[in-house]
Amino acid sequence: MTKLIDIKGVTHAYKTASGPLPVLRDLNIAVPEGAFTAVVGPSGCGKSTLTRLIAGLMHPDRGEVWLDGERVKSPRRTVGMAFQNPVLLEWRTILQNVILPLEIVAPTMPKARRIARAEELLALVGLSGFEDKRPSELSGGMRQRASLCRAIVHRPDVLILDEPFGALDAFTREDLWQTMHALRAEEPFTSLLITHDLRESVFLADEVVVLSGRPATTQYVLDVDLPGPRELEVLYTPKAVDYLATLRRQIQIAQGRAPASQGAA
Ligand SMILES: Nc1ncnc2c1ncn2[C@@H]1O[C@H](COP(=O)(O)OP(=O)(O)O)[C@@H](O)[C@H]1O
Ligand SMILES: [Mg+2]
Repeated sequence: MTKLIDIKGVTHAYKTASGPLPVLRDLNIAVPEGAFTAVVGPSGCGKSTLTRLIAGLMHPDRGEVWLDGERVKSPRRTVGMAFQNPVLLEWRTILQNVILPLEIVAPTMPKARRIARAEELLALVGLSGFEDKRPSELSGGMRQRASLCRAIVHRPDVLILDEPFGALDAFTREDLWQTMHALRAEEPFTSLLITHDLRESVFLADEVVVLSGRPATTQYVLDVDLPGPRELEVLYTPKAVDYLATLRRQIQIAQGRAPASQGAA
């Protein structure tokens, strides 16, 4: 299958006043078309740096980022992004916020079609009836739903999510996970999700990549073989519990809190 996201031998350091800060080291991650990969790793190991490199907002010192067979050299329209902070524009309604990327990417698209597209997505995430509200009139979970709609409204090939559910309470977060599954069933994007929530990674992803401590490289890759469509109960099955124990242990190794040689958790 085509590798839609292909991170090849990426090494990067920030230049700081006290010298170079190595952040990524010979990192390789390939995400096949239509797949959902989660990336977990210790705080500060370089996860957000990775998303900026994929988005073409920065260039790696060494190595290459390829998207859909093309080397990334600058930001691309075929990428959608969502972050922990939904960054919606307060002076625009929810519908106008969701439409924004279409105004930039597809300026000739008839207004009625833009509106229909945004309404279709808002319905899919349970926001029908809130189209004319301002962001501040919505709960945090609803704002994040709207920001997901905005990230995919222009039908990007690739969706990059940097801890988009991190600021939400546990129940709202679980609702959003199910919304992600619903979106994925309807929209054919390839996803890379950065998260520090191991349950989230197992529930949403086909593959979980554990990064080492900084400078980050791939420490461990877990294939998530759970039946779909996934319901939250799947997290309590022996297989999922086993996955979570494995990931927990790998994170402890990445944090330098457990030796890599020790037996299974
Ligand atoms: N623009 C920057 N200049 C210098 N250092 C940075 C910059 N951005 C991030 N860093 C540092 O690089 C490391 C990795 O940051 P980041 O990719 O945001 O980590 P993560 O998302 O995994 O928590 C951190 O130590 C952070 O302080
Ligand atoms: Mg980050």
